Amino acid sequence: MNERAISGAPGVLSEESGILVIGLGLIGGSLLAALRAAGYAGRCYGVDLNPNEVALGRRMGLIDDGGPDAAAFLPHVSLIVLAVPVMAIAPVMAQLSQLRRHGQVVTDVGSTKSAIRDQIRSALGRVPSWLVLGHPIAGAEKSGVEAANPTLYQRHRVILTPESDTDPQALHRIEHLWQACGAHIERLTVERHDEVLARTSHLPHLLAFSLVDTLARQDDRLDIFRYAAGGFRDFTRIAGSDPVMWRDIYLANREAVLQALSEFEAGVSELRAAVAGGDGDAMLGIFSRASHARHYFDRLLSQKSYQVMETRNVVYRASAGGQVRGTIRVPGDKSMSHRSIMLGALADGVTTVEGFLEGEDSLATLQAFREMGVAIEGPQAGRVVIHGVGLHGLKQPKGALYLGNSGTSMRLFAGLMAGQAFDVTLTGDDSLNRRPMGRVADPLRLMGAVIDTGEGGRPPLTVRGGQPLAGIDYDLPMASAQVKSCLLLAGMYATGETHVREPAPTRDHTERMLTAFGYPVSRHDDVAHIAGGGSLTGGFIDVPADISSAAFFLVAASITPGADLTLEHVGINPTRIGVINILREMGASIELLNERGVSGEPVADIRVRHAELHGIDIPVDQVPLAIDEFPVLFIAAANASGTTRLRDALELRVKESDRIKAMADGLDVLGVVNTVVEDGIDIVGGRYHGGEVESLGDHRIAMAFTVAALRAEGDITIRDCANVATSFPNFPALAGEVGMQVEAVSEGA
Ligand code: S3P
Repeated sequence: MNERAISGAPGVLSEESGILVIGLGLIGGSLLAALRAAGYAGRCYGVDLNPNEVALGRRMGLIDDGGPDAAAFLPHVSLIVLAVPVMAIAPVMAQLSQLRRHGQVVTDVGSTKSAIRDQIRSALGRVPSWLVLGHPIAGAEKSGVEAANPTLYQRHRVILTPESDTDPQALHRIEHLWQACGAHIERLTVERHDEVLARTSHLPHLLAFSLVDTLARQDDRLDIFRYAAGGFRDFTRIAGSDPVMWRDIYLANREAVLQALSEFEAGVSELRAAVAGGDGDAMLGIFSRASHARHYFDRLLSQKSYQVMETRNVVYRASAGGQVRGTIRVPGDKSMSHRSIMLGALADGVTTVEGFLEGEDSLATLQAFREMGVAIEGPQAGRVVIHGVGLHGLKQPKGALYLGNSGTSMRLFAGLMAGQAFDVTLTGDDSLNRRPMGRVADPLRLMGAVIDTGEGGRPPLTVRGGQPLAGIDYDLPMASAQVKSCLLLAGMYATGETHVREPAPTRDHTERMLTAFGYPVSRHDDVAHIAGGGSLTGGFIDVPADISSAAFFLVAASITPGADLTLEHVGINPTRIGVINILREMGASIELLNERGVSGEPVADIRVRHAELHGIDIPVDQVPLAIDEFPVLFIAAANASGTTRLRDALELRVKESDRIKAMADGLDVLGVVNTVVEDGIDIVGGRYHGGEVESLGDHRIAMAFTVAALRAEGDITIRDCANVATSFPNFPALAGEVGMQVEAVSEGA
């Protein structure tokens, strides 16, 4: 990689362009060592006031020549790196600006940037266009050229803080310099750099210095060092760093460090109060939030996080053919996982959840409640323990609640947040931020809520706290379980009764789970009723496998000759089994075995075998009951004889993507004949080939086309599949387990 970087842009670091490092310490020495290791064969010079460092640099082969004065070497170089302490940069720059030759580019490595920029401005009047301020985020507690390490910058970040008039050529050369050392480049403004570094580096160093000093002074026999194992050692490693350098950093970045220190002191006081008051739930809340954040951070650094999906690009390569055989359990139901966290958090007492879906959507709900002060243990292999705070026990989160890709979280939260005493802002990823929220904001306003939406009724939503709510009678304009649930949840906080009439039955998990938590909800014909002022009691929730995830395998087995698959412990709530009803009408062989009830929901094992499917007119009463399953039902239709006709499915256009269009576009690529109408599609079954399709970041589109490959005459490549992790994180592995051939390839950020 390094060699490629060097030879990839000849001239930038070519042999004739020597490099001068002023300040031969760990940072400057490591830069030279890295360049040498990457094959740089040009001349290297080092300037340092300490002759021993220069001599050592020469002995280590890092520099060809060196001395105390830069003037001697300037004629031989095109790149100059200032690696002197922050406080010494301005005088060196003043000298350089006198002696600099045309074409020479200068950069620095100082760990604070405003102070350096301001010193340079006052010495020279402006930051010259040939100076690129920078900061490699790497270091070690050792110092001096002796500690120079050629791998110090590998896979580390280098932040550059160019000015608006920095010469683009100069910037390009400095980027190339660091890339040659294996570093990743980021650009920030000077101010942002200093704020970020104050929190991520300067504050932790300050705390480490202080802790070691405080404890060492109190312990004159210094037993702390003798007995210090993991914790003390891990926390204080950085207190061995260079004292002079750190003094200069705190002198230079005073304001940002003080701000970070105040935030930290507020956090410590909160923890102190929890310890003093023996408040275990408060401690658990803080620790579990921190522990989650720390794990998230590890995953973020290793690019595996479920929350970095927006920057990941995952491509599925589904090979044509394959089998569908065996017995599997797909992950937990998404709708119920969301609701188990919401009701568990607002209940009195502890709730234990088993079978929780550890997908990005339900994790977004879980994390949001942590941010509102709820102590939640797990998830650990699908088990979550929620320490409920009661209907009025949530705390205001520190910032906006980020709900990722999850429409259910945002719509149900809108109702819950309308009943709180504090303001809260709800936001999400690009897909969620495009989805309509007027459908929840409008009826909530009728109840007395005050809600600001973004343009066109879209997110972000700001829900104002402390508004008295009153029950309403509301006729849903569309069949939506999310809107119904939103209003029922708000109804718990309203005076009087809230009545919600649905135009067609939709999933009733909210009603069932409220009942399981001891909050009465009744139903009269097509109207659900809830009265405000009740309470929820924590307990045990067993979340069955998600029929929406099972649906991919129901279709996979139905269309694949020889298939015989059993899906265990699947939720078969009558408001969710549209997919089974539709597939059976198309001729599928689906048996429900071992039917039973768990936590107020019916469950069964489902056996599905290959069958010859035929096209049908999908009954309109089944549409809301199969609303999430249409992408894969379209694949069933593509494999059925004759035409399958869907109508009255306008809602599909406002899901994670416009699912009618997204599927039709992909079917066109594969050569499946189809005709799109506003509220549906006609699909003609038959043979189809492979090709490359776009999932548009929609998890269910991605999985549907993976299933299509079972009968395609060529391989199918599906782009933009990272969001499969929102509902079905182990989909490729489970698909492989039954004999489908899909490979998930990460294409980097
Ligand atoms: C859901 C309801 C449905 C569904 C979504 C989950 C829920 O949305 O598409 O995946 O958990 O209430 P709508 O209410 O918009 O139909």
